[in-house]
Amino acid sequence: MRTEEKLLPRALRGAPTDRHPLWLMRQAGRYLPEYRELRAKAGGFLDLCFSPELATEVTLQPIRRFGFDAAILFSDILVVPWGLQQKVGFQEGEGPKLDPIRNAAGLAALSFDGMTQRLAPVYETVGRLKQDLPPETTLIGFAGAPWTVATYMIEGGSSRTFEASRRFASEDKAGFETLIDLLTEATIAHLDAQVRAGAEVVQLFDSWASALEGEAFERWVTAPAKRIVEALKEKHPKLPIIGFPRGSGAHYLGYAKVTGVDAVSIDQDMPLGFARDVLQPAVAVQGNLDPLVLVAGGQALETRVRAITDALGRGRFVFNLGHGIVPQTPLDHVAKLVELVRSIKPGRT
Ligand code: CP3
Repeated sequence: MRTEEKLLPRALRGAPTDRHPLWLMRQAGRYLPEYRELRAKAGGFLDLCFSPELATEVTLQPIRRFGFDAAILFSDILVVPWGLQQKVGFQEGEGPKLDPIRNAAGLAALSFDGMTQRLAPVYETVGRLKQDLPPETTLIGFAGAPWTVATYMIEGGSSRTFEASRRFASEDKAGFETLIDLLTEATIAHLDAQVRAGAEVVQLFDSWASALEGEAFERWVTAPAKRIVEALKEKHPKLPIIGFPRGSGAHYLGYAKVTGVDAVSIDQDMPLGFARDVLQPAVAVQGNLDPLVLVAGGQALETRVRAITDALGRGRFVFNLGHGIVPQTPLDHVAKLVELVRSIKPGRT
């Protein structure tokens, strides 16, 4: 049997393609009526994440509707703290709630032993998806990066200022390092298990990388990502890895070079000229339509999509949003986006 390389991995390694690969962060989720219906029946959000049958179905929903070039495993970055035996819950309409870790005793209660066994249903979902996805669709596995996951574990939920996390990182460097090291090893094990189950590409989400600067950025964002990339490439030399140090501006270049990721996902605040002239010579670039421009639709959407593909379409490029799709996004705007991106020929010279 001849197996053609799929569109997304082709684009990530910089081979010419007939069109730009397209997928959207959070493409499975509340903007889809079929997701809301299944979610209402599933009970809790984590119950949905840990049901291989339902998580597979939810992953497939946006593929059936829009034919995206990649499916991202339906799960969450907070399954890793759950697997490390921290209490994690999702309250309706309030987001995640964790028992916050603030000191050595909190750290000591975490347990890496048995984590991948506890997370076995996630890997079973990956295995099912490998069977059920259309042959041309790439399966993306993912994890949260150590810094971002640590913020939820320390703050006990979502935060705007990350005050407790930053204080922990600067006042108890050794303790914080223990937590980051544990999360780094947990992330490697979790991604490795996804790849062994069938994930073809992985993405590392550092959604709150922008809260750190200078030496702290290098130490808590770049260094753990480098270690994760090295360990995964040692086990799976051909695995494409996408890093997403969201909102980190000019730090993106150092991150790309030092970590050895194959691609960076850029947020909507990243200027296209910087992405084209500074980042693309070093790595593939994924992004970066503002999710709210997709909500707006119309001429604004078309103009922005063309600006992105004009700027980045000659280099290594994957079309995506700058962050996750939001629940109020109209379905016909997503359909229009897919049609538009598909109609644009990569402008390679
Ligand atoms: O389609 C996909 O992208 C796959 C699944 C996915 C989810 N979360 C499902 C989800 C992925 C890749 C994530 C990543 C994730 N989770 C991140 C990193 C990306 C980002 O958005 O910055 C973060 C920070 C989380 C943590 C998290 N999960 C929060 C803060 C929340 C609550 C906020 C919200 O949007 O409700 C979640 C819940 C969550 N994760 C939902 C989904 C579909 C909504 C929950 C629901 O259905 O009630």
